[in-house]
Amino acid sequence: MKIGILISGRGSNMVAITEAVQSGLIPNSEVAVVISDKSKAKGLEKAKALGIETLPITRKGRKRVEHDAEIITELKKREVELVCLAGYMRLLSSDFVKAFPNKILNIHPSLLPSFKGLHAHEQAIEYGVKISGCTVHFVDEHLDHGAIILQKAVEVKDNDTAETLSKRIIKYEHEAYVEAVKQVASGNLKIKGRTAILDELGKSHNT
Ligand code: GAR
Repeated sequence: MKIGILISGRGSNMVAITEAVQSGLIPNSEVAVVISDKSKAKGLEKAKALGIETLPITRKGRKRVEHDAEIITELKKREVELVCLAGYMRLLSSDFVKAFPNKILNIHPSLLPSFKGLHAHEQAIEYGVKISGCTVHFVDEHLDHGAIILQKAVEVKDNDTAETLSKRIIKYEHEAYVEAVKQVASGNLKIKGRTAILDELGKSHNT
């Protein structure tokens, strides 16, 4: 399965997925390209160091659909089948979602549906929850909304700041994203309504 990863910044989830693909932990897959909407994203250098083609595609004042159209073209050119949003801080147009039906994943640093959108860690601390975590889900046309593939729970401590909480959660994000991509790449993950179900027979054959 050819994977395209979209980033806007640091790219630590992108590195986790790429290393898992390159080590064979996610079998029969290849990271074909890493695209960033920010030309100075730190993750671009990390992707290059891993031997992955990188492509900055900035918005340049264009409408969302025009910007997305260029990204879709570049992904299709490389025959990308699965798109992973890894800290990609832009909403996708419905054209983008339709171009890769049930083949776009996202990671979000909270237990959805709580704390959607920006500043999820701040939102969790502000609300006073005792448990937060991360969610890997399919992307649909709504913000942080598509069918959930998996979640990991992480304790929120009384003295946590957004920074300390994000440091605790990010480790689980890497594990969760690798596991989710592995499930999707296995072909055994089916979506029924809002529920993503891993076929148990398929699972036992693939792990
Ligand atoms: C991650 O914590 C990811 O969950 C979050 O941005 C960070 C990117 O880190 N994404 C969102 O908040 C999307 N709504 P990374 O660039 O090191 O992977």
